[in-house]
Amino acid sequence: MKTDPASVVQRLIPHRTPAQEQATAYAPSNIALSKYWGKRDEALKLPLTGSLSVSLGALGTHMKIQAAEEDHFALYGKPQTPDSPAYKRLFAFIDLFRDPMTCLHIESHNTIPMGAGLASSASAFAAAVLALNELYGWALDLQSLSILARLGSGSACRSIAHGFMEWLPGEQEDGLDSFAIPLTLDWPEFRIGILTLSETEKAIGSGEGMLRTLQTSTLYKSWPDQVARDLPRIREAVQNRDLVQLGETAEQNALSMHATMISAWPPLLYWQPKSIQVLHKIHALRSQGLSVYATMDAGPNVKLLFNRDQQQDLTAHFPALTIIDPFAGAGDVLNHE
Ligand code: PMV
Repeated sequence: MKTDPASVVQRLIPHRTPAQEQATAYAPSNIALSKYWGKRDEALKLPLTGSLSVSLGALGTHMKIQAAEEDHFALYGKPQTPDSPAYKRLFAFIDLFRDPMTCLHIESHNTIPMGAGLASSASAFAAAVLALNELYGWALDLQSLSILARLGSGSACRSIAHGFMEWLPGEQEDGLDSFAIPLTLDWPEFRIGILTLSETEKAIGSGEGMLRTLQTSTLYKSWPDQVARDLPRIREAVQNRDLVQLGETAEQNALSMHATMISAWPPLLYWQPKSIQVLHKIHALRSQGLSVYATMDAGPNVKLLFNRDQQQDLTAHFPALTIIDPFAGAGDVLNHE
């Protein structure tokens, strides 16, 4: 019989405990440098390849969970109705863990600017798992927490800790060998720049987009080879703090992922004219000697990768750039509050 999310939870948390009064947690968002695109198991969100990301430090999700008389979910202080997609997705996940008689009051605050085109689902599901771990006193290790976060959203398994995280794809059918591990090193000069080019919701979410690419793009067949080449190069670049190797590989990896998306049917063309303008501008700045590289996810916004010494020049060229220092205030591996 195929393993389902409930039996993974049962395996990792065999003894259920009553809920404490309340728990809070924070998890950072993350951006992949070598991307995850395509699943080998839809229900367990098991990836076809590994991926490697960097967390966004202070940009993420704060979540508070309290035992209550009835279920309630507020996002940025605004109550969400039970038929809203955010409510349904969160409680479907929470239901994997709670005794059906317990009601919970959940408050979630993202420090990610609304409409910045940054996925908040990764940090939200990671924060939910960290808060539940406190609420029920499971005392789970990083590996188990990462597996559980993955059941909410694949990339959430990389948001369970700060810094560079590598998601090992695993081979097992139950996915107990598919989790993210921290690359325990920092890179204080490393910066991420976010350029918000469009605030509209993406038309096709990553889950549906991946499936469509897998089913309809012939180019997708080359994607595992691309990752097999890029991921070790990115890991090595991080270890050597080599921005050129990291930037060149990450940019090519992101554009290769987009090539598979564009060749899907119906096509997944996430780029807007402004995205292409920014890519051209980055290429022009590179030819003038600036060390700056681009990465993009399932949306039109472009993220810049560079070192601190380029910050002033880049702000002059991109006045709207939001600059993130992934290692500022990211001391603890498990940033419980
Ligand atoms: O975890 P999901 O379903 O949000 O997928 C994330 C997909 C990308 O952001 C495009 C790539 C990645 O590795 O984060």
